[in-house]
Amino acid sequence: MLYIGIDLGTSAVKLLLMDEQGGIRNIVSREYPLAFPKPGWSQQNPEDWRQAVLGGIDQLLTGFDRSQVAGIGAGGQMHGLVVLDKDDRVIRPAILWNDGRTATQVDYLNQVVGKDKLSRWTANIAFAGFTAPKLLWMRENEPENFGRIEKIMLPKDYINYILTGVHCTDYSDASGMLLLDVEHKAWSREMLELCGLREEQMPRLYESYKTVGTLLPAIARELGLPETVKVAAGAGDNAAAAVGTGTVGEGGCNISLGTSGTVFISSEAFRVDENNALHAFAHADGGYHLMGCMLSAASCNKWLMDEIYKTSDYAAEQTGITRERLGRNRVFFLPYLMGERSPINDTNARGTFMGMTMDTRREDMTQAVLEGVAFAIRDSFEVAKQLGINVSRSKICGGGAKSPLWKTIMANVLGIELDCVASEQGPGMGGAMLAMVACGAYGSVAEACGKLVEVSETVKPDPELTALYEARYQQFRKIYPTCRELFPQLLVE
Ligand code: XUL
Repeated sequence: MLYIGIDLGTSAVKLLLMDEQGGIRNIVSREYPLAFPKPGWSQQNPEDWRQAVLGGIDQLLTGFDRSQVAGIGAGGQMHGLVVLDKDDRVIRPAILWNDGRTATQVDYLNQVVGKDKLSRWTANIAFAGFTAPKLLWMRENEPENFGRIEKIMLPKDYINYILTGVHCTDYSDASGMLLLDVEHKAWSREMLELCGLREEQMPRLYESYKTVGTLLPAIARELGLPETVKVAAGAGDNAAAAVGTGTVGEGGCNISLGTSGTVFISSEAFRVDENNALHAFAHADGGYHLMGCMLSAASCNKWLMDEIYKTSDYAAEQTGITRERLGRNRVFFLPYLMGERSPINDTNARGTFMGMTMDTRREDMTQAVLEGVAFAIRDSFEVAKQLGINVSRSKICGGGAKSPLWKTIMANVLGIELDCVASEQGPGMGGAMLAMVACGAYGSVAEACGKLVEVSETVKPDPELTALYEARYQQFRKIYPTCRELFPQLLVE
C-alpha cells in the first residue's frame, strides 16, 4: 500500500508518496506566499495551503495507482492561529509561529498572570509565537473577529479538516498553543477561561498516530482516491521530523535546520525545564519532548543569499570557506532576524554583524551566518546541560543539513557526533510514517522508526576544531547581553 506524507511548511508544502518499506516513490513541492504586513508580523492564507495541498496531492499521484493509497499524515508548522466562523469559513489570515506582534500579551501572561501559574497549567510560559497570546491579541485588537470564532485550529489541522471534515488536533501540536495541560494531555480550563474561550471551540485531541477520519466523499472524488483512505492526526512539524529521523523514546535528540532551528530531546516520561527556557511538549510517539526553537536558522543563510548577495548558488558561496578558516573567523553574527524565542525570548532582538575589519571578505560574512546559527543552537544545548541532560550525539535534518560545511561547523560548535539519515525527508516522512501506524502497517511509531529509518553518515567533531570553536562560542555568548538594552531603542521610528 502507499502513504502520503504532508509537510505543511512556512514557504511551501512538500508532499511525498511512500511505500510500506520506506521507499520514497515521489516528491512534490508547492510554494505559497508569506506576508509580513508590518515589521515582525507574519501571516498566511489558509486557502493557499488548501490549494497547494490538494493540487500537490493530485500531482504527486500522477502515474500511480490511486487505489493503492491507504493513508495520509501531516506534519505542520506549529502555533499558527487558524480561526473559523459558524459556517467553517476562515475569519482572518493565519497568524504564524514567527509572528512577533504579541509582545504586550506575552508580558501580561508572563508578568501579570505569572510564569509560575502558566507553567503549572500548561508546562510552558508565553512566547510571542504561541497561540494563546495571539487569541488575546485578537480579542483586544479585532473584537469583532474574535466574537465570530466558532473553531480554533492549527495549520495542519486545517488541512485535516479539509480532507475529513473533522475538527481535531494532536497532542504534539496542541502543546504549542499554551492552552493544553501538556502533562495530562487535556485542555487547560484555567487557560481557556483566561482567553475567553469555550472547550467546544477547541479541536478534539488525538495521539498523532491515531486515525481522525476518512476522506470526505467530495475530496475523494476530486483526488480520485478511495473514500476509505485514513487520515492520521499528524503532528507539529518538529515532532514529525523527529519521527522521520527515528528520534523517539528515551534520550533521542534531533536538530532541525529549517526556516526555524530546533533542538528536540525526546523522553518517555513528562519533564519540564524549571525555568521554561525549553518548551515541554508532547511527542508524536505517545511520549514527550523538550525543545529549544530559534526563529531564524536556515532562513538566515537564505536571507543572506537571496536578499543581500542576490544569488541562487548557495554552494558556490561556501566553497571559499576552507577547513583552515573554521574556528578562526573574527566576524560574528547574531541570527535574530525575526527576534528570538529560545532561549532568550526577546521579540526586540535583531540580526547583528560584529567584528568586521578592512580585510573582512564576503566568505567571512557567510561563515559568520552559518556559525551564528550553530552558536545559537548551542545556547539551547547549554540550557539542556543545566537540566542535567548531556547530549553526546544527535540526528540532524532540514534544508541546512544538506550543506556538508554547515554540518561540520555544527558538530564542532556542539562537540557532538551528528547522524544523518538516509532519505531524510523531514516532517513529510514522519507524517507518512504516522499514517502507516494509523493504518496498522506498524504496531507503534517506535516500530516504524526501527524498520524504516537508517543512519547513512555520521559527522564527527575534531577535538582541535572543537577547542577553537569553544573559545569563539564564549565570545559569541557575550554579544547579545551587551546589545540587549539597545535593541528596543533601535525600533523607535
Ligand atoms: C516550533 C516552531 C517552529 C515551527 C516551524 O516551536 O515554532 O519550528 O514549527 O514550522
